[in-house]
Amino acid sequence: MITSLRLVNFKNFADETLRVGPFTVIVGANASGKSNIRDAFRFLHGIGRGYTLAEIIGGQYGGGGQSEWAEIRGAMKEIIRFGQPAFSLQVKMENLAYTIEVGRNEARNGAFQVTRETLEAGSRTIYTSHPGEGDPVYAQGDDTRLVLHMEKISLQRAYDRQFVQGNYARRIMVRPDQPALTQIREHRRVLRAHKEYAEQAIKVLANMRFLDLDLNRMRRASFSGQIALGDGGENLPTVLQAICADPQREKILTEWLRELTPMDVRGFEFPTDSLSGRVQLVLREANDRQVSAYAASDGTLRFLAMLAALLGPNPHRLYMFEEIDNGIHPARVQLLIDLIEGQTAKGASQVVTTTHSPDLLTIINDDTFENTSVVGRLDDADEAIIRPVAELPKAGALRKSQGLGRLLAGGWMEDALAFTEGDNDEEGK
Ligand SMILES: Nc1ncnc2c1ncn2[C@@H]1O[C@H](COP(=O)(O)OP(=O)(O)OP(=O)(O)O)[C@@H](O)[C@H]1O
Ligand SMILES: [Mg+2]
Repeated sequence: MITSLRLVNFKNFADETLRVGPFTVIVGANASGKSNIRDAFRFLHGIGRGYTLAEIIGGQYGGGGQSEWAEIRGAMKEIIRFGQPAFSLQVKMENLAYTIEVGRNEARNGAFQVTRETLEAGSRTIYTSHPGEGDPVYAQGDDTRLVLHMEKISLQRAYDRQFVQGNYARRIMVRPDQPALTQIREHRRVLRAHKEYAEQAIKVLANMRFLDLDLNRMRRASFSGQIALGDGGENLPTVLQAICADPQREKILTEWLRELTPMDVRGFEFPTDSLSGRVQLVLREANDRQVSAYAASDGTLRFLAMLAALLGPNPHRLYMFEEIDNGIHPARVQLLIDLIEGQTAKGASQVVTTTHSPDLLTIINDDTFENTSVVGRLDDADEAIIRPVAELPKAGALRKSQGLGRLLAGGWMEDALAFTEGDNDEEGK
């Protein structure tokens, strides 16, 4: 589980840390930086997918020129905070802390390169590009190789076959155009014990999903066996079909859906088109009327897709939904929040969402309240700050007396942010 994300000179953040919990809610005015936080998660996810920096930031295209991975918004020009030479992100996950700093090499047409990178496990530094806070070294005086210092390891610790005598520090070289994290897994001079830490971090980063639901794609019939929900909601029929293969899960699914829609949904049907072999989604209503995905309402489909993501086979470790309440009636938002709070409390998946919805904020439980952050700019400063709402002055009491939604709608959160500034110690609590 990811517990925090620190952003330094990333987009409009100078140095801010987002607290991440089982269910993390991010609020803030338009253009405050909420989606920039999503971009930071996407950057980390791109690392997990093994891409180079140019691919992560600029997009990755498969053989047919189709995009397998969309560029980060603003891509090359705007990922680093204006006027700064580099950005860095640090993600903490249970015992691991991974930090990467990325700058541009002007000698190489401004190509992105790793300028610092560290992987820590508890108090151990598995590798770093700059031991003792010195400057990182590019080998041979050129910039095509970054030197990594691997953790000093003693004989007892080296449990792979390599011959290691006494305390042993090892330097290896990696390419600076790709995060070292995904290079050392193949590196023949890296101990297996170290590779395992890297794999552990990669697994967390790789296992994120960024749902950006597209109604047309959700309505489309899909091929049976396609049980991975696409980012746009693709394969919704066959993912739901997979869930319904288990009667117990089917029951959970229809119960949620029945709550959502006034019509009485009895169940699902998945007719297969004999010519194309594609599976369609059909909702069966109480009077045995059938409604195809093409006729089902937008909100129903959105809700279904989120159910499919959270209840489907092989749930991901982290889901990012932007404006989760989009298209869902306020009275039903409660259902969605119940579902997410219930699913994330089990510990298998985390959900991060942005919202502008006061209703959503009013109904979150105490745990989610602790993991709700506000993003805002002070006096129209260029950079934005991130603070847990629970740490704003009197937040807890005001939440009880007025409800969090009213505090959002009335602009209280942004006002309260101003009081926390210049007060970086613990006093603001
Ligand atoms: N490289 C950069 N340096 C400084 N500021 C930047 C940079 N890139 C983007 N920004 C700022 O970030 C803002 C956009 O932030 P973002 O898209 O995260 O807003 P948001 O909180 O998601 O808003 P909305 O609620 O409207 O979606 C831009 O208006 C710009 O001011
Ligand atoms: Mg946004």
